[in-house]
Amino acid sequence: VGNNLALTPPMGWNTWNKFACNVSEALLRQAADAMVTSGMRDAGYEYIVIDDCWQQGRDKAGNIYADPARFPSGMKALGDYIHSRGLKFGIYSDAGSLTCGKRPGSLGHEYQDAQKYAEWGVDYLKYDWCSTYDQNAKSSYETMSDALRATGRPIVLSICEWGLNKPWQWGTNIGNLWRTTDDIYDHWEGKKTFEHGVMDILDLQVGLESFSGPGHWNDPDMLEVGNGKMSNEEYRSHFSLWAILAAPLMAGNDLSAMTEQTRAILTNREVIAIDQDALGIQAKRVAKHVGDEVWARPLQGGGRAVVLLNRSETAHSVTVSWDMLNLPDQLDMQLRDVWLAKNLPAARSSYTAMVPSHGVVMLRLDYRPMQGAEK
Ligand code: DGJ
Repeated sequence: VGNNLALTPPMGWNTWNKFACNVSEALLRQAADAMVTSGMRDAGYEYIVIDDCWQQGRDKAGNIYADPARFPSGMKALGDYIHSRGLKFGIYSDAGSLTCGKRPGSLGHEYQDAQKYAEWGVDYLKYDWCSTYDQNAKSSYETMSDALRATGRPIVLSICEWGLNKPWQWGTNIGNLWRTTDDIYDHWEGKKTFEHGVMDILDLQVGLESFSGPGHWNDPDMLEVGNGKMSNEEYRSHFSLWAILAAPLMAGNDLSAMTEQTRAILTNREVIAIDQDALGIQAKRVAKHVGDEVWARPLQGGGRAVVLLNRSETAHSVTVSWDMLNLPDQLDMQLRDVWLAKNLPAARSSYTAMVPSHGVVMLRLDYRPMQGAEK
């Protein structure tokens, strides 16, 4: 976008997946507090984003305002509170006349709304696509992008038109991230056409790899980790896959009531480091058999991140060979199991691991620092 923001995939938390329209100032403050006490802020999570349904109406001058019963202190105070916790403030609007939750959208008020957000201290805008009828997607998002820029405040723009108009083809100079699909649901594989599970969304990322990069990311939607309908094994897979895809990591669970397993998944430093790798290269699926797949991405320093994925109902072994990774056979790379946090014995040309049903083994291959070769 040229706003020099989101040089690595944005990380944060958003109200929608868990709380839908049940948003309030109290909920947001609680989430900001939990972000700090859980260690998530220190692990890299930054944005606290209110999704739909905070808006109540417009005043006579057309200024948007929040529901005063749910946000009694007002949005500026909420932004100040979030900032006081060392976090950033995200908000939501819609490119059409109404949001998906039937609150006022920004159509015809883009500059006025952007100005308001800047006054409130907003750092991130998720911009949805309901009630847009025959609007042109590219120009609608361009208008808001220009309006945000005109405020002079750095604000990340999250394009949320669900991949309908192939935003990866036009979004790079308009927004910092764009949704590639319909909404994610808290299950492994889709039960209904429009209720994508983690595997359905994963499949839809194939072919989009080249469009993603620093400042402009493919967004396979927010995380469901910890929302209760998948197993911890499945949540670990979900998180590992989003990390290898260089996806935005927006937690979507109740941060103030998460289990230790959920917290451990969301704050795993080594997995997050793969997501946040400075090269910003989205993984490709480099092997696919019935039931298992290998995903890989290059990392800064010449290494690779690898996910061995078992989509089947029973545990079985999955192999990655160095030729799938475009690496020559060699013994001078350090191989590491990321979730076990353990270095593995050197392997010349491939590595095979037993992978549980719906599970992953996540690996990192890094060139060892050359020893005694400094001069
Ligand atoms: C549709 C989006 O895709 C969701 O993430 C969420 O923002 C809802 N709209 C809110 O109504």
